[in-house]
Amino acid sequence: MAQSRLSLALAEAGLLADHLSAEDRVAVFGPTPETDLSALPPARLQIVSRDAVVHDAFAGLDCRTGAEGPLMAAVVVVPRAKAEARALVAEAVAACPGGLILVDGQKTDGVEPLFKACRARVEVSSHVTKAHGRAFWFRAAPMFDDWQAQPGMVDGFRTLPGVFSADGIDPGSALLARNLPAKPGRHVADLGAGWGFLSARALAAARIEEMHLVESNAAALDCARVNVTDPRARFHWADATQWEPPVLFDTVLMNPPFHQGRRGAPDLGIAFIAAAARVLRPGGQLVLVANRHLPYEAALQARFGKVDETAGDGGFKILTAQRPKRGRR
Ligand SMILES: C[S@@+](CC[C@H](N)C(=O)[O-])C[C@H]1O[C@@H](n2cnc3c(N)ncnc32)[C@H](O)[C@@H]1O
Repeated sequence: MAQSRLSLALAEAGLLADHLSAEDRVAVFGPTPETDLSALPPARLQIVSRDAVVHDAFAGLDCRTGAEGPLMAAVVVVPRAKAEARALVAEAVAACPGGLILVDGQKTDGVEPLFKACRARVEVSSHVTKAHGRAFWFRAAPMFDDWQAQPGMVDGFRTLPGVFSADGIDPGSALLARNLPAKPGRHVADLGAGWGFLSARALAAARIEEMHLVESNAAALDCARVNVTDPRARFHWADATQWEPPVLFDTVLMNPPFHQGRRGAPDLGIAFIAAAARVLRPGGQLVLVANRHLPYEAALQARFGKVDETAGDGGFKILTAQRPKRGRR
């Protein structure tokens, strides 16, 4: 197999097993399940990620939501959102004073402007370009404090860089909020709950006994805990497609995610539909919003006895599905 850009960069930066002493720890900030970490010795590795899916993918390694020192080096895997990428660099630098910071990313995820912005602050030791991306490294210096994640406010709700709809309420979610079922029943789940917008609206509108917010991004779920203070809310940091619910639900609400790492729509959305069918009671219903061009109808018909478009506009459709077939995963 061809050597990945990250493996090549780790070798050039001197971060392979035979360069590290038994005490040296290297943290990898923000890897996706696809990140090639084969060049790093598992026993020296710390995975720093807020994503439950990443924790599941690297089960068996030292996975944390925040770094724990001392660290001799940090690898930052560049995410798509600019503010989140900068916050990860700032977090890595703070966790690894004087250590080596290696940043690796795709051009499509914005590694080039990040490279320029880092070079304007510190001396970059070296870099490699390969496979439509760049990896570069530098000695950590206290020059990145202003890149730390700053909470934002959207319509009175708290958000953080990198969480879904960090800068404004998603129009699809807003449409679903205007078309919530009048009687959702006692137990409701919000799969991929984000920072809590749909759950907050549903709790405000209906007589619900328990609202379960399931979200894989711990940063988003932390915001949801601030935004949804209603005692009926239950928070679950989990991969919704694998989650085992404490009860079966009367209603599942969702605005399914469009992508996760390289796993794009509609696969992930279809996995969410399968999860909804699995966690609903036989008389329960799924109400979802989707971009009109996303082909979810076949997956819904495969897992539910009745599927209807119950509302919509030019951009989005609200699909309501009843009679879940729980046998299929
Ligand atoms: C389109 S957003 C909807 C967020 C929120 N419900 C709203 O309407 O604003 C989808 C959410 O699903 C989350 N997500 C992605 N993959 C997930 C998974 N496997 N398990 C749980 N949540 C996931 C994302 O982090 C994101 O917050």
